[in-house]
Amino acid sequence: MVELSPQELVLRDLLRAERVKPPSVLEFARSVGFEPEEWQAQLLQSDAQQVVLNCHRGAGKSAVVSILALHRMVTRPNYEILVLSRTDKQAMELVYNLKRAFNRLPNRPEPTKENDHELYLPNGSRLTVVPCTEPRGYHVDMMIEDEASYVPHEVYMAARPTVIAKRGRYLMLSTPKGKVGHFYDVFENQKGWLKIKATWRDSKRFPPEELARIEGERAYGDEWFRQEYECEFLQTSGQIIAETSIMAARTDGIVLDDVSDVW
Ligand SMILES: Nc1ncnc2c1ncn2[C@@H]1O[C@H](COP(=O)(O)OP(=O)(O)OP(=O)(O)O)[C@@H](O)[C@H]1O
Ligand SMILES: [Mg+2]
Repeated sequence: MVELSPQELVLRDLLRAERVKPPSVLEFARSVGFEPEEWQAQLLQSDAQQVVLNCHRGAGKSAVVSILALHRMVTRPNYEILVLSRTDKQAMELVYNLKRAFNRLPNRPEPTKENDHELYLPNGSRLTVVPCTEPRGYHVDMMIEDEASYVPHEVYMAARPTVIAKRGRYLMLSTPKGKVGHFYDVFENQKGWLKIKATWRDSKRFPPEELARIEGERAYGDEWFRQEYECEFLQTSGQIIAETSIMAARTDGIVLDDVSDVW
């Protein structure tokens, strides 16, 4: 028989049908071996309906959101989640992380459906990966838009209503890619969002030698480094259409097909 650690025993008891109180999200994260950074703990503990994460490359955006999503699926019956990213494969990566954490749960329930794009649990909770086309016809408790800087604006506009009917949450995560697009607009201009930013200096889990290595990356391009590791929205010489023209086009009712094409 497999011996359970004290943490696993706590979680097992909490997950039993007769439980009084579901595990807190931090207890849950730790029970699957995830020790959150400060900014990750802020996200996990928040109930904000709209959250935007502007974090450096490899910060742990997808990882922490997968833990949050799994916690909700396990502790709330009939909790429904959609995952959207720039590509199917990138969305599946987040789901892969989620399943890895799921497989660490002691006494985990047997999924009623499981494949690369879906995870259905016996409590009625389910997670579905949707392609990066307009997600119409879905109504969910949580919409996760990963790599948002690269998701076309019209896909975002079609995704927003998916959380209205169920008063669900919209989570948007990315690293900046210029002063264009909805990720930039939401993080810099929109109200009603919990905005979390984490630069490489905020990721405390890296040992000094790894931090020195990250800092050394600046040698490959200062602007690139400020974008990828310091989460800055930069208007570089490569950005052909100026921010002001894009905003003006929006207010004139002109829809830009794929803002990533202007780079
Ligand atoms: N709190 C943490 N403790 C330990 N490892 C972590 C933590 N958060 C994330 N990681 C690990 O760091 C790596 C990067 O995480 P993740 O893929 O979520 O980053 P990301 O911000 O989504 O990166 P990208 O910008 O490339 O999409 C993964 O191996 C993940 O497991
Ligand atoms: Mg990611």
